[in-house]
Amino acid sequence: MNITILAIESSCDETAASVICNGKILSNVVATQEIHAKYGGIVPELASRAHQQNIVPVVLDALNAANITKYDLNAVAYTQGPGLLGSLLVGVCFAKAYAMGLNLPTIAINHMQAHILAHFIDDPKPQFPFICLTVSGGHTQLVKVSNHLEMEIIGQTNDDAVGEAFDKTAKLLGLPYPGGPLIDQYAQLGNPLAYKFPDVDMPELDFSFSGIKTSFLYFLKDKTKHNPNFIEENRNDICASVQHTLIQILIKKLKKAMSQTGITSVAIAGGVSANKGLRAALEKLAIQHHWKVFIPKLEYCTDNAAMIAMAAHYHYLEGNFAHIETVPDPRMQIPTTLH
Ligand code: KG4
Ligand code: ZN
Repeated sequence: MNITILAIESSCDETAASVICNGKILSNVVATQEIHAKYGGIVPELASRAHQQNIVPVVLDALNAANITKYDLNAVAYTQGPGLLGSLLVGVCFAKAYAMGLNLPTIAINHMQAHILAHFIDDPKPQFPFICLTVSGGHTQLVKVSNHLEMEIIGQTNDDAVGEAFDKTAKLLGLPYPGGPLIDQYAQLGNPLAYKFPDVDMPELDFSFSGIKTSFLYFLKDKTKHNPNFIEENRNDICASVQHTLIQILIKKLKKAMSQTGITSVAIAGGVSANKGLRAALEKLAIQHHWKVFIPKLEYCTDNAAMIAMAAHYHYLEGNFAHIETVPDPRMQIPTTLH
C-alpha cells in the first residue's frame, strides 16, 4: 500500500503545501507573503490573514501538481510549532478539518525538526549521527541528530537568532525585509575584513547575537556623523564584514561541537543555510577537517512544506498520529541537553 501524505506549513510568513508518496516528494508549493517587506518585519496579524487567503489555493495546487486527488491521501500533516500563534492556527485548523472530512489521521510536526529532515528529501542523505547547525529567522541551534526522530539540542542562542541579526543589520542599512538575502548579495562584492565587529563569546556551545546588532548601530552612527554617504559608498564592504563576523561566530561553535562530540558528519539547515558565505565556509572547513558535509538545496533552506512532508513520512512509519485535541505550540522545542 502507498503512504501518501498532504503536509501543510504555516508557521511564519510562507503558506506552503506538499504531497509525499512513499518518502518521495511529489509536489512542493510555497506562497510567500510579500506584504511584510514594506513594514520592515513580519506583522503577525497580516501573516494570519494572508495564510487564510492562501491556504485553499496552495493545497489545491499541491494536490494538482502531485497528480492525485484528496481521496488518494492516507494522512494530513501540519506544523504544530514553533511559530506565530495566529499563523500556526490557520494551518492546524485547516489540516484538522480537512482530515476529519476525509476520515484521515493527522500528524503534528515540529518545524525545527523538519528543517533538519529536509536533508532526507534528496540524495546523498546524511548518515547518523551528525551535527546540524540550524540557522533561521527565529532559531540558532546546534543539534545532535542520532536518528530521524531522535535529536537533541546541544547549543543555542541566548538572545537573537542569526537570521534576526542579518535582518536587523539590513534594516539599519535601509534594506527591505527580509534583509538576509540582500546582505548576502552585497557581501559577494565586498571585503569581509574591511570592518571589525566584536564577537561576544558565550559559554559552551551557546551563541549570542544581540551585542553585534548594538555595536553595528553605534558603528553606523559614528561613521555617518562624519560622512552622511558612508552607507551608500561602502555598502558592499559593510555587508561583507557583517556577514563575515556572523559566519565566524557560527563556525567557531560548530568546530567546538564537532570536536566535543567526535562526530565527523555535519549539516546546515534553515533559512540562513541559503547564505553563500556560510555554504562556502562550510565546504572549506569540511576539506580541512575531513568532515562529511551536507548542504540543502536552496528550495529546502527557507520555509517549505516538503520538509514537513518528509518529517511526516517518518512519523507515519512510527505510528505517531496526533490527537484531535492537539493545539499549536508556538514555543515547541526539540529536547535539550543541559550542560
Ligand atoms: O527558515 P526560515 O525561512 O524561516 C524561519 O523559520 O525563521 O528563515 C528565514 C531567515 C530570515 O532571517 C532570512 O533573512 C534568512 O533566513 N535568510 C538568509 C538568506 N536567505 C534567507 N540570511 C542570510 N543569507 C541568505 N542568503
Ligand atoms: Zn523555518
